[in-house]
Amino acid sequence: MGWVDAIAQSDLPDGSREVVELGGHSILLIHEGDRIYAVASACPHMGAPLEKGTIRDGTIVCYRHHSAFDLETGDVQEWSPWPPVVGPVVLSRMSRKKVLPVYATKVEEGRIWVDLPDTP
Ligand code: FES
Repeated sequence: MGWVDAIAQSDLPDGSREVVELGGHSILLIHEGDRIYAVASACPHMGAPLEKGTIRDGTIVCYRHHSAFDLETGDVQEWSPWPPVVGPVVLSRMSRKKVLPVYATKVEEGRIWVDLPDTP
């Protein structure tokens, strides 16, 4: 699919996040300092909305079972560590460990663009 116009830069001020639907993908845009991240909006563990997550040291932590993903690469930093015992022993096995899809972004002429793959 390639580069897709997502949102006006002014609609995503520093510290904010926004979910947009683009070409069959639900994308969470995050503006943190000088970075604009675009990641899948659903947690790869059990689908919780990541816009409710916490951003910490370059990762996003899902509010539900605290899985953590690198915002740059999507790599799993932690997989379902919450709640204690039940999270790591039971819930972590309900879904295979999966990276968070991440997408390249760019800003041109006051618009944020996201580089999307061909298939959702
Ligand atoms: S749904 Fe996100 S960690 Fe379980």
